[in-house]
Amino acid sequence: MSEERKKAIGTILEAGFQMESDAFKALMEISAPGHLDPLVKEVLRVAGTVVPRPASISRDLVLRAAEHLDISGKTLDADHSGLGHGRRFAEDLESRLEVVSDPTGKLGTTGSFDDFLRYFRSRFDKMSLLFRQRMDTRNAGTISDALSGGSNGRGRFICMVLDKREKGDRIFLTVDDYEDEATVLVGRQNPTLYEMARKIVRDQVIYIQARKSAGPLLVAESIILPEIPDRKPVHASEEIYAALVSDVHVGSKVFLEDEFRRVLSWLKGDIGTPNQREVAERVKYVLIGGDLVDGIGVYPRQEVDLAVPDIYEQYRLAAKFVSEIPEYMDVVLIPGNHDAVRQALPQPAIPKDFAGPVYDSRKITSLGDPAEVRLHGVHFLLYHGTSLMDILSGVPGLDYQRPVEVMEYQLRARHLSPEYGKMTPIGPEQEDFLVVERVPDVFTSGHIHVSGAGIYRGTTIVNSGAWQGQTDYQKRMGLIPKPGILPVVNLKTLDVKMINFQ
Ligand SMILES: [Fe+2]
Ligand SMILES: [Fe+2]
Repeated sequence: MSEERKKAIGTILEAGFQMESDAFKALMEISAPGHLDPLVKEVLRVAGTVVPRPASISRDLVLRAAEHLDISGKTLDADHSGLGHGRRFAEDLESRLEVVSDPTGKLGTTGSFDDFLRYFRSRFDKMSLLFRQRMDTRNAGTISDALSGGSNGRGRFICMVLDKREKGDRIFLTVDDYEDEATVLVGRQNPTLYEMARKIVRDQVIYIQARKSAGPLLVAESIILPEIPDRKPVHASEEIYAALVSDVHVGSKVFLEDEFRRVLSWLKGDIGTPNQREVAERVKYVLIGGDLVDGIGVYPRQEVDLAVPDIYEQYRLAAKFVSEIPEYMDVVLIPGNHDAVRQALPQPAIPKDFAGPVYDSRKITSLGDPAEVRLHGVHFLLYHGTSLMDILSGVPGLDYQRPVEVMEYQLRARHLSPEYGKMTPIGPEQEDFLVVERVPDVFTSGHIHVSGAGIYRGTTIVNSGAWQGQTDYQKRMGLIPKPGILPVVNLKTLDVKMINFQ
């Protein structure tokens, strides 16, 4: 008896069923070598629905299961394994989607001076709490303590960086902790510290240990970022997948329609290598990370890049694509800077006024940006990525072709848009929704149109690339996208497969 057959019988016995000899014969007749496993799974699923529970698997039960898989009475063809056309693994698995956080409905700022003060206070308080929960920084004092420590006295404090100036081989940080302000000097004597200080941006909240000089200056001895702890992430108990789509840009002249249609065909089980089809069969979640459409007037002279210059028509076309995602999959949608919703972060969910056809096309969980969800227990932080270019331009050593490092920077800073007042508009809400308060198991973004994946301290980082070729605007800016690649996260292992649809 082949290993595969032995394993099939073992699986059935382990599930607590006896096997009738006719049933065994039917099982062997119906399934082709290498394809017994899906049939056995379906047999067990069907047996589980029978009341009262049968003691043994009958021939009839095997035939019913085969019917579900659409392989009854015919031998499986190795190239058309039926994986795509019968009952699919994810189809029979109940969805476990929980929304952990969503800014929609919680936003409202008048942009007054008081609002700005409250916003930064919220940032400082949230970040201070993160430091107070850490063993090595929980005993932080204040700037005032450090300043009154006397010459060569030491102090440690949590502070917000108000300004950073580089003069020769020295960096001066002006810092504030809502009680006092001080200037902190970072010299080149300690190269690691100096390199770290170079990467600090304005408005970031950090922990500093400093020595007081003879004058009013504090001299930095160490700087600690809020960081995420190194830990073991949560894994799903089943092998189930989330496909990450973002930056589709429907309506753009260079929307990669053929490639995107292939993604939908793959999700439906119509195309793919046997391995890819096996993954498609287990996709339960499709996450759309913003820039579903190209929008109107997002950047200067965008009209020359548009094939569809009407925002309503763009969403109508997008809805057609979205409606093709198999019904049993859960779709989560967040906005991007090209979507028809307020541009300032955090963004609420895309309103129905514009994207009505998308909402009507199928069931969708529509959230703001950023948002957090749990999928089969795995905690996802979903963020479109609007601030990634700001971080790239403000922090030395980063490169847009390596998006994972930029996202790692955000996790270390525990903030999605550390520097205020650059290209990314931020609404001065009562609460800073951009602080990374909870450590995600998976952190996903898009926006820079370059896909990538990596792991930082247990968190899987994924940038989901794009489905748009190079626009004239990107050509002018010298940006080379890497589109047409779909990241798919295995929620059991948190491994990321990059499927190339180019
Ligand atoms: Fe985009
Ligand atoms: Fe974007």
